[in-house]
Amino acid sequence: MSKLWSDIVHKLTPYVPGEQPKLDNLVKLNTNENPYGPSPKVLEALKLEATDSLRLYPDPNSDALKAEIAEVHHLNTNQVFVGNGSDEVLAHTFQALLKHDKPLLFPDITYSFYPVYCGLYGIEYKTLPLADDFSINIDDYDQPNGGIIFPNPNAPTGIPLALVEIEKLLKKNTQSVVVIDEAYVDFGTESAVSLINRYPNLLVTHTLSKARSLAGLRVGYALGSSDLIEALMRVKDSFNSYPIDRFASAGAIAAMQDSTYFEQTCSKVIKTREALVSELADLGFDVLPSGANFIFAKHPVKDGAELTAKLREKSIVVRHFKSPSRISAYLRITIGTEAQSEILISAIKSIL
Ligand SMILES: Cc1ncc(COP(=O)(O)O)c(C=O)c1O
Repeated sequence: MSKLWSDIVHKLTPYVPGEQPKLDNLVKLNTNENPYGPSPKVLEALKLEATDSLRLYPDPNSDALKAEIAEVHHLNTNQVFVGNGSDEVLAHTFQALLKHDKPLLFPDITYSFYPVYCGLYGIEYKTLPLADDFSINIDDYDQPNGGIIFPNPNAPTGIPLALVEIEKLLKKNTQSVVVIDEAYVDFGTESAVSLINRYPNLLVTHTLSKARSLAGLRVGYALGSSDLIEALMRVKDSFNSYPIDRFASAGAIAAMQDSTYFEQTCSKVIKTREALVSELADLGFDVLPSGANFIFAKHPVKDGAELTAKLREKSIVVRHFKSPSRISAYLRITIGTEAQSEILISAIKSIL
């Protein structure tokens, strides 16, 4: 604690990301990265970008990247906002669209960065408990609010919410912004992007970190009405003119263009997930239904913290959340390659 810090810094409780261990030969299943590398076309585009032009600033508006994203989602470029990972896009969203007199609503068990942004920007919030089966009950959100946000599928549960439920929410909640964080949507969850042209208060965020295998490049985006996008641009242009560097732009454009590679890797991850779910169920695990590239599973007897520690001794890293106590028995396991699944299953068998 330094007396040189501003008041707000004293009060912050920063987000703690999943560990990035500096050890070789780990089976790393803790931060929901894609087990497959990015499209070879992305690597080619990055090489071509390593030229003298790096002395020049990139395009502050990322027009070429926005055009590519708009085309993929059948929207106009003025309905697209891009940022340095969807975390930055979310941060700007909290400041630009979710700070109002009434509280922001989100589930009690969800992406733990949301309360951190509330702390940073002084946003009042209220959490609503997930149902007993860990699903989001849309009727709970029918109350005065300054905005609503949740991931679909939710994190860390992985449970998807049907599009009809989201539309039900949008029909009732017309006076504040509804943000659907679709970081994991491409692994088998229905996207709300198709509702954007009918609901001007809907903002959908996506990332290239998961389904497009580019967590290291840091690119995310938001899709919504031009009015919402303009608010995000105003914050971005008051913060950092160039959040997307030349490499990020070139790599992200190539990734958005290679739909074949994207579809193939997503299908492989989904196939591996289904096989892993059934093997864990055979071992007695309770696995929540997942529409994501990770699963949330608990053993009826073995404690979550103990299992995590025992797996770590065998060089397998998964994520465990100590709190709230309702989820402390669970492990969040990222879907890796088939070979990694086999290593995981045989390690669990030997621990049990
Ligand atoms: C629900 C959710 N939203 C957003 C993000 C942020 O992803 P990124 O900043 O890599 O785009 C994550 C990352 O794990 C996440 O789990």
